[in-house]
Amino acid sequence: MKFKRIVIEKIKSAKKGFALTGAGISAPSGIPTFRGENGFWKDKDPRELASLEGFEKNPERVWDWYNERRSIIRKTKPNPAHYALTEMEDSFEQFAIITQNIDNLHEEAGSRNVIELHGNIFRNKCSECGKLFNDIEQLEIPRCDECGGLIRPDVVWFGEALPKEVLQRAIQWSELSDICIVIGTSAMVQPASSLPLFARENGAFVLEINKNKTVISSYANETILGQAETILPELSKIGI
Ligand code: OAD
Repeated sequence: MKFKRIVIEKIKSAKKGFALTGAGISAPSGIPTFRGENGFWKDKDPRELASLEGFEKNPERVWDWYNERRSIIRKTKPNPAHYALTEMEDSFEQFAIITQNIDNLHEEAGSRNVIELHGNIFRNKCSECGKLFNDIEQLEIPRCDECGGLIRPDVVWFGEALPKEVLQRAIQWSELSDICIVIGTSAMVQPASSLPLFARENGAFVLEINKNKTVISSYANETILGQAETILPELSKIGI
């Protein structure tokens, strides 16, 4: 694959960079995206399955859906796009992966500096007292051993704020990076979708990799249209 000279120069010269990833990077591993043809939200209502209101109304349905997603994700493995980002982590002086994904695949690929904006599906917490629990493989919705509250996945639902410390770290990377690589996100969900804009406003080169154009494409310095799992392994060789 031939990259534009500006892309090669920016990758070679950048000292600090971050990748913002979305469901598109895990699609080649076999995890459906949210929007589009076979997306999760095509025939499901996010308010019912991924909000506190939905959980309070019908906790069993929400727990079942997360059980189903956990079982899909458990069977998957990182793909060449995840591994390419792990290599990039080594070739930059400082590199972070800021992900909207909750599937743990960046960590499984060996990436060390992963900021999980929307939590992790293999972690759970009490919906009442917040006590954290690890992976729970249980068909019925469990209860907290401290307060008896219902246990829910430790992920960010619609209408919920991102953990403060996580958001602060992500904003700091956007403000101080030389390059921001946006991969496989439709950029429809805030505040994640603003991070590349902060980066651009703070002087970073914004490079987007996506199968399709998105809102990011309107201000990205470069958009490479195509599959992340073929483009990223090529891109990661530039920095070495
Ligand atoms: P989306 O499903 O909205 O977008 C997936 C993006 O990946 C689209 O822009 C596709 O074009 C692109 N894509 C798909 N396959 C690709 C491939 N092989 N290579 C490159 N690009 C590819 O997913 P997100 O943007 O991640 O939030 O969604 C953001 C948030 O919305 C999620 O974290 C989730 C969801 O509701 C919460 O649950 C809080």
